[in-house]
Amino acid sequence: MAGDEPTEGRPIAGTRAFFGPRAAGWEDRFPDDGPAYAAAVRALDPPSGGVVLDAACGTGRALEPLRAAVGPAGVLLGLDVTPEMLGDALSRGRGTLATLVLADVTRLPLATGSVDAIFAAGLVSHLADPVQGLGELARATRAAGRLAIFHPIGRAALAARHGRQLEPSDVRAPDRIAATLAAAGWRLDYLDDGPQRYLALAGRVAGPRSSSSS
Ligand SMILES: C[S@@+](CC[C@H](N)C(=O)[O-])C[C@H]1O[C@@H](n2cnc3c(N)ncnc32)[C@H](O)[C@@H]1O
Repeated sequence: MAGDEPTEGRPIAGTRAFFGPRAAGWEDRFPDDGPAYAAAVRALDPPSGGVVLDAACGTGRALEPLRAAVGPAGVLLGLDVTPEMLGDALSRGRGTLATLVLADVTRLPLATGSVDAIFAAGLVSHLADPVQGLGELARATRAAGRLAIFHPIGRAALAARHGRQLEPSDVRAPDRIAATLAAAGWRLDYLDDGPQRYLALAGRVAGPRSSSSS
């Protein structure tokens, strides 16, 4: 997922300007990531027959394992704000796996409490306000629903790929992601911040959100 960082915190126009021209061939740059996505989906364990959202689905790399998890009776939505990303997903036939939706995850066109599980790969660092964005995911998720925040590469390896050091302010850092999730209505249940991948699993907390900020 190289090229994953330059839009950090920018508005939607910047996200589209960055990802639009990169959509064609985006996932061909990372042809070996499939098993990592499948393992992350297994860890999320979406319910068979449930309603599952791939938030910021991009070209839809996670849609095949997500469809396998929810089965033919499940409802699977792949949502992204960059039209070219969804266009590439369609060209790969992934419109048969999921309903593809052009929308902003910070303003989901979904009813409150309507989703059982959310898979979010490569999204969090693009949210201008992570508490608001993750809070909107929480709003759409039923009580005790689940969230996976995933990258198919460790944070340190990704930073090194960009010639950077890990930033203490990185929202994905262990203490920050726990606090950010708590402020957004989630409870961090599991974190793999290792060299191979980043995977945070969270459960929807019932009741009012924590007042702490990220
Ligand atoms: C690094 S790519 C990851 C795509 C895909 N999840 C994957 O793992 O291959 C980030 C994606 O996030 C999308 N994105 C960023 N901000 C978004 C937002 N607010 N709403 C919806 N999609 C967003 C971009 O359009 C882009 O497709």
